[in-house]
Amino acid sequence: MNLPSKVKIVDVGPRDGLQNEKGEVPASVKIELVHRLQDAGLTEIEVTSFVSPKWVPQMADNAEVMAGIRRKPGVRYSVLTPNLKGFEAALLSKPDEIVVFAAASEAFSQRNINCSIEESIERFRAVAEAAHANNIYVRGAISCAVGCPYEGEVSTERVEMVARLLKGIGVQHVGVADTIGVGTPLKVQRAMEATLKHYNINDVSGHFHDTYGQALGNTLACLQMGVWQYDASSAGLGGCPYAKGATGNVATEDVVYMLQGMGIETGIDLDKLVDAGKFISDFLGRKPNSRAATALLNKRAG
Ligand code: HMG
Ligand code: MG
Repeated sequence: MNLPSKVKIVDVGPRDGLQNEKGEVPASVKIELVHRLQDAGLTEIEVTSFVSPKWVPQMADNAEVMAGIRRKPGVRYSVLTPNLKGFEAALLSKPDEIVVFAAASEAFSQRNINCSIEESIERFRAVAEAAHANNIYVRGAISCAVGCPYEGEVSTERVEMVARLLKGIGVQHVGVADTIGVGTPLKVQRAMEATLKHYNINDVSGHFHDTYGQALGNTLACLQMGVWQYDASSAGLGGCPYAKGATGNVATEDVVYMLQGMGIETGIDLDKLVDAGKFISDFLGRKPNSRAATALLNKRAG
């Protein structure tokens, strides 16, 4: 066991979470969620994506949301950019970090970004170069790192290949993503090991959707490898429009509760985080999709 003493959580709720909502979420609500997350101690927030509004209308207010955020010193704000057009639009919003998203599955790459893996790498090469020229940190995601909604099982060789390609174009950090939440601890560890052939332990993170209830177990499995950075989504918001049936990321509240119980520092105030998750859940008209948040809210009510 190689447990880290500190963990950094990137809350991806405003982006990965809200990109999948059927109803409209006004920019003001997204901004308020970001404010509440940073007040709870989150130091990195994935705010929005600069993708085609025809593909993902939920993120069409990207510039408005970025402009409305009261930036807190020490907090990093990241956005997704699938191509140079998205990067150029994002640049005006001054993100600290951009995210390019590749897939370890050819079919998912086609459905999600309308091009092959190889073509996507060429697009991301231009994005990474432009980001470096503007001193913006470049993160990458490897979607479908353990399973694909169209192709089924995904081999570790594919994950290693995509990690190598991303490294080769100057992507500084890579998130191993279980897009549809089918992974189990040993499979996720193998995908992480494949990525670690090309990336340092300090430059990888876990991004686990919780469709099959495995995301917390998968997080623990990666903690045991020494991985100390994770994406999570407040109130367990989310899913991917191109991965039908997949639910949200592991709830930030659940990860923070587990880490606190293990004596691992996160810098996050769990009570305030629960409030942030309740705020967005109330707006959406449902209960937070987090066991820890539910338990803590019940305890408060009692
Ligand atoms: P395309 O249709 O092949 O693009 O889509 P195109 O270059 O042919 O352009 C078509 C039209 O889109 C043109 O407009 C472009 O200007 C416009 P028109 O002339 O028809 O009016 N366009 C754009 N508009 C705004 N911003 C842009 C942009 N690019 C082109 N950046 C494209 C290709 C990549 C744009 C499209 O497929 C797309 O936007 N895909 C995004 C899908 C997405 O957001 N998926 C969810 C995020 S990824 C995810 O959730 C996974 C992750 O969480 C990790 C995990 O869990 O796996 C990260
Ligand atoms: Mg995701």
